[in-house]
Amino acid sequence: MHNRKSKLLMVLAAMILFLCPVYLAIAGTYRNSAHGNTTYGVNRTSISSMGYSRGNCTHCHEPHASINGSEPAPASGSPSNFALFYDNYISQTDGICYQCHTDTGSYQSGGLVNRSYSFRAGGWTSDTLNDILEAFSFTSPGSSHNLDDIKTFIAGKWNYTTDDNPCLACHNPHAATGDPANQPNSPKTSSNRGYPISRPSQHSRDNNAWGVWGDGAGEKMSDYTANYQAPYRFNSTSTYEPDGSTTQDGSNLTDMVSFCTDCHNTTNTIYSTTLGRNLRSIDWANEKHGLADGTTAVSTDNPYGSVIGKVLACTDCHEPHGSPNQVLLRPEVNGDILTGNITTITSSDCTAPYSDNNKEIGYLCQRCHKDDYDFNTSCQKNRWYYVHHSSTSGDPPYSAWRCWSCHYSGGGPPSCNASVTANNCNCCHYHGSSADGRKTF
Ligand code: HEC
Ligand code: HEC
Ligand code: HEC
Ligand code: HEC
Ligand code: HEC
Ligand code: HEC
Ligand code: HEC
Ligand code: HEC
Repeated sequence: MHNRKSKLLMVLAAMILFLCPVYLAIAGTYRNSAHGNTTYGVNRTSISSMGYSRGNCTHCHEPHASINGSEPAPASGSPSNFALFYDNYISQTDGICYQCHTDTGSYQSGGLVNRSYSFRAGGWTSDTLNDILEAFSFTSPGSSHNLDDIKTFIAGKWNYTTDDNPCLACHNPHAATGDPANQPNSPKTSSNRGYPISRPSQHSRDNNAWGVWGDGAGEKMSDYTANYQAPYRFNSTSTYEPDGSTTQDGSNLTDMVSFCTDCHNTTNTIYSTTLGRNLRSIDWANEKHGLADGTTAVSTDNPYGSVIGKVLACTDCHEPHGSPNQVLLRPEVNGDILTGNITTITSSDCTAPYSDNNKEIGYLCQRCHKDDYDFNTSCQKNRWYYVHHSSTSGDPPYSAWRCWSCHYSGGGPPSCNASVTANNCNCCHYHGSSADGRKTF
């Protein structure tokens, strides 16, 4: 109770200060944020009808449960934590942010449309996902970042407490800018950029001290590595993520690796309720898609070409919020949509025989690696004979003989069209994996 009251007082003090000119200078971060914007910022009808201007803190914080004797919608009786107009966080699909960030039934007048990363950075504008509540509502076979787990994970770290909203693990609502802002139906372009995220490891209880990530010097992918290669934008072979310009070196992309690896690194143990186990730790400095180099030869599609040593960003393959695929895998990668949904990769038993013909994860690999069809159009798409068996691919790991010893069924002369049962790709390819003495991810 004491905790709650003192927070309420802090907010009240801040709100009174907000009216005085000295505070206006300090509050520059907020005034430049998407929420504080006087043209398209926060605006609840019940508050604006009382004369508060668009962008005012009161659209989220109510200094009293009632204002001028009546309680603005939604009425909740007692004041919520942080003097918010609604509970800070209730569940995966309920909490203050969704009261506005939903396209229908939003308290923000007119509703709020937000898009996936595949839409905004990938330029895949046919994606129908159109609000944040929807992005966090994917359940199996789709997936979304589990907010209960994130809330538990951050509590006690980086100045977070058990009262904090898990959206604030990655965003500062007092600082975030839109990317793009106020253009919900447009992907990012070089002229409409902003910075929606803040790093959890930089979190401060002082809203103005906790800045956004990606805007400053040293905060771009090109600062993380000189070997970043941006993927193509949807349906293009001349423009690149994230903003559809011709820049390819990550100098226009937030350093997403440092952001995600604040949590997903080799020291944190992270439990996932969704997967029912601790997550694999991620050592991006030593993975081949990370800073480590491929071995001898790679068979990658453009724009990666066959040059060894390229580095990827987490968001080249993953959505940050949710996806119709498992493990947040993007529905659109490197210029095109995946040819099928990825729904069962992690459910497989990888103790031999794992020759179960599950090649779903190949839909992802296909977006950047040459499958059999890419090597030879008389072979089929999403078959992977060449990279594992044929020297045409450079350095195949397996010689094809006694087929049954690996494939368990089928066989015949070595060829891409031999009738064999495929080995489950995910048994050998995942973060940190190796097989037959080679790193395989
Ligand atoms: C979009 C909604 C929104 C707007 C607008 C907003 N806030 Fe907040 N504010 C929040 C949320 C949500 C929290 C709870 C943060 C958490 O869970 O850690 C919060 C927390 C705070 C806190 C407590 C910080 C802490 O870490 O203890 C203060 C102080 C505060 N807000 C002041 C303001 C002021 C002043 C303004 C206007 C300049 C403002 N807020 C505008 C959503 C908002
Ligand atoms: C694990 C980190 C993480 C969490 C948790 C998270 N987000 Fe995000 N969010 C991101 C990232 C990363 C982006 C994409 C940033 C970019 O495009 O540069 C994003 C983008 C957004 C955008 C869209 C920006 C735009 O310009 O359209 C909104 C709105 C948003 N998040 C709101 C939320 C809300 C609300 C929650 C909680 C329900 C939440 N986020 C939880 C990481 C997170
Ligand atoms: C009172 C309504 C309201 C609430 C509550 C609210 N937002 Fe927003 N949010 C907005 C509006 C309005 C914008 C600007 C919309 C635009 O740019 O099109 C916005 C923009 C954003 C952006 C920048 C990306 C964008 O869409 O332009 C992020 C990130 C964001 N909100 C996160 C959050 C988080 C996290 C919470 C909960 C802590 C939250 N919002 C709560 C109304 C709200
Ligand atoms: C080349 C595409 C690709 C890139 C780039 C990538 N991932 Fe993944 N990620 C995957 C695939 C495929 C899986 C499913 C296999 C697995 O579990 O490792 C996965 C799974 C995960 C998982 C779940 C692990 C588990 O325990 O099952 C996490 C967490 C994750 N990725 C985080 C990251 C982070 C953080 C980065 C950046 C440092 C990143 N990924 C970069 C493709 C990618
Ligand atoms: C604040 C800490 C935090 C940050 C930052 C963060 N994550 Fe996570 N992530 C978690 C937690 C906690 C889980 C376990 C709960 C779950 O499964 O969603 C998780 C789970 C995952 C999973 C597995 C999801 C599943 O259920 O299959 C993937 C994939 C993932 N994160 C990718 C990313 C990527 C990509 C980024 C950066 C854009 C990122 N994470 C940033 C905390 C974080
Ligand atoms: C967004 C593009 C992209 C996606 C998607 C992708 N890869 Fe890669 N992959 C690359 C690039 C680029 C390299 C080369 C990295 C280097 O040389 O350092 C690479 C390298 C590799 C290597 C190392 C090869 C060698 O010769 O050392 C393996 C193994 C690999 N990828 C497996 C996979 C699998 C399996 C999938 C699907 C689950 C996948 N990749 C998805 C871009 C991608
Ligand atoms: C040492 C283990 C091993 C042996 C022996 C082996 N393979 Fe493979 N083969 C693999 C692996 C691993 C893959 C990649 C996963 C997959 O596609 O099954 C593969 C892939 C294939 C594919 C592509 C299947 C698909 O649908 O993607 C064909 C075709 C194939 N092998 C044919 C053969 C034939 C024919 C023989 C016997 C002459 C043979 N293999 C012997 C390990 C082996
Ligand atoms: C038995 C383990 C095993 C299985 C199962 C397996 N692979 Fe591989 N894969 C490997 C090894 C080993 C390499 C060679 C890595 C290297 O070159 O260093 C490889 C390489 C690759 C590459 C990288 C090719 C390049 O550009 O150099 C891709 C892509 C790939 N596999 C996709 C798949 C797909 C898709 C499946 C499922 C159909 C699959 N693999 C199943 C072991 C396996």
